Amino acid sequence: MDEMLAVDARGVSKSFGPVPAVVDVTLRVAPGEVYGVLGPNGAGKTTMLRMLFGLIRPDAGSIRLFGRSWDEHGVRTLDGVAGFIESPRFYPYLTGRQNLRGLARLDGGARPGLIEEVLEVVDLADRADRRVGGWSYGMRQRLGVAASLLREPRLLVLDEPANGLDPAGIRDMRALVRRLADGGLTVLLSSHHMDEVEEICDHVTIMSHGRVGFHGSIADLRAMAPDPGHLLRTDDDERALALADDLARERPGLEVSRHDAGLRIVGPEGVATELVAALVRGGVGLRELTPTRTPLEALFFMLTDGASETAPTDDADPALVGARPDGGPRR
Ligand SMILES: Nc1ncnc2c1ncn2[C@@H]1O[C@H](COP(=O)(O)OP(=O)(O)OP(=O)(O)O)[C@@H](O)[C@H]1O
Ligand SMILES: [Mg+2]
Repeated sequence: MDEMLAVDARGVSKSFGPVPAVVDVTLRVAPGEVYGVLGPNGAGKTTMLRMLFGLIRPDAGSIRLFGRSWDEHGVRTLDGVAGFIESPRFYPYLTGRQNLRGLARLDGGARPGLIEEVLEVVDLADRADRRVGGWSYGMRQRLGVAASLLREPRLLVLDEPANGLDPAGIRDMRALVRRLADGGLTVLLSSHHMDEVEEICDHVTIMSHGRVGFHGSIADLRAMAPDPGHLLRTDDDERALALADDLARERPGLEVSRHDAGLRIVGPEGVATELVAALVRGGVGLRELTPTRTPLEALFFMLTDGASETAPTDDADPALVGARPDGGPRR
């Protein structure tokens, strides 16, 4: 059955001079899946995807796409595969429709009606006669997806499709990927946002420094997630700490410590609510209770060694990571 995997990459490594960009990565994507490759900047995501596309050769390991390999099948390895690496580029002085027509022609032509269909899918049909130079970044990213769909692929590979988009653009891109997946397309995308991968992917490989830190289903990942953290501000931290200590004696796993101008709470779900109730009963005034990150964000941070330059929140204190070396399971 392995022959049928959309992506079957095994033990793939690639170095650039002394820099090991991808180290012994195995990635297996089944048809119909939405698969995420997640990792902070420099994790090796783009390098991995470039090797799938045959843009660079691995130093070691094997890559098969729908059973085909570069060594045996050459460019036919990309039959049924489309996508883009980093940002798609277009002629700015041509309209969206003209860009797609040109690309279709270069690729041997598109069947009648296909350009209109793909414009419809990416929700650009009504703007396709405007010059791309005046388009938003989000629209250009979606045109990149449209250009990929012209190949009528079975596997779509997208390198950080939502990177650099504003919240509306991110929402539209996620909805588009979900729509495509619901239509039966296999999607492999990279991302450095845990929430994106959690929202749209079935399976994920988390990379850090070129290596795989985790691979499995989103459900497996959730089961591993550590306890969420909260930041608490009160009008009497001394008393709050004493009350938290009392509660911690009954509730193992609860940890409260001083942090910046407040207190950090880490503990099983629901424990923050219990602590708040205890504080209110104890007459402590509550000023703020803020989740510092979701359990999955905390896990991402733990698995990637805090390596991200774009940490999920600005409250990126490795102490939280260190606080739960076992990583759960809690949920
Ligand atoms: N052509 C290259 N020459 C030299 N080093 C490279 C090259 N391409 C990538 N690297 C290095 O390989 C490592 C992985 O880079 P890569 O671009 O694959 O990471 P990434 O996960 O895509 O990061 P980002 O989130 O920033 O896009 C980095 O250390 C990078 O500097
Ligand atoms: Mg990249």
